[in-house]
Amino acid sequence: MLVVSGLTKRHPNAPRPIFRDLNFSVLAGQTVALVGESGVGKSTLLNCIAGLETAEAGSVQIAELNMMALAEAARAQLRARSIGFVFQAFHVLPTLTVAQNIAVPLLLTRVPVAQHALRVETLLDRVGIKDFGVRWPASLSGGELQRVAIARALVHQPQLILADEPTGNLDPRTADEVLSLLLERCREQNTAALIVTHSAQVAARCDRVLTLTPDGLQGLSA
Ligand SMILES: Nc1ncnc2c1ncn2[C@@H]1O[C@H](COP(=O)(O)OP(=O)(O)O)[C@@H](O)[C@H]1O
Ligand SMILES: [Mg+2]
Repeated sequence: MLVVSGLTKRHPNAPRPIFRDLNFSVLAGQTVALVGESGVGKSTLLNCIAGLETAEAGSVQIAELNMMALAEAARAQLRARSIGFVFQAFHVLPTLTVAQNIAVPLLLTRVPVAQHALRVETLLDRVGIKDFGVRWPASLSGGELQRVAIARALVHQPQLILADEPTGNLDPRTADEVLSLLLERCREQNTAALIVTHSAQVAARCDRVLTLTPDGLQGLSA
């Protein structure tokens, strides 16, 4: 589903690349934890995969398309159709209801508007906040907000989920519940997932663990 080949990223004026010649892939339905020290480049790697940052060399293949070779408009389209994002800080829009927040990715796809409400209702149920659609984000707890973010990331049935420390702002028990949901839904939808985490518990529950170090990726053969 995701194939990263020879990926090299260097910031302008930086003395050395953040990472060089990274090679790995994630299969459909596979969940992969990405761990590594703070500042090693995990978020940068996710941004490069999503086509939000450019890289100096290599390719990022998602659903058989090379993200890096596409023009900006086509990159945006591939991102909108094929990727779902979950961030540490939720990024839920405060002026939209919960249901409207979850529907946002559908606006960027060809899913007919008549089907949006049912899709949103189904996802609300699947992440355990069935009756929350009419509520405003300000009235939700952190764990509930992250459930909204997970529903929003999955509503357009993307092939790939990119999650950057999705449980980093939650207490351990809530974090565990929310992670379980994310992993279950990915496996159920046959969605590939790359999950950046500092938590050994989170990593242990993924199918595979990749460690990003200044010398490259470790754990590739596991
Ligand atoms: N625009 C930039 N110019 C130079 N260096 C940058 C820029 N953006 C990020 N970096 C550096 O890239 C490194 C990797 O950052 P990041 O991907 O956020 O790490 P992580 O997510 O693993 O904590 C950091 O050392 C950061 O300072
Ligand atoms: Mg980061």
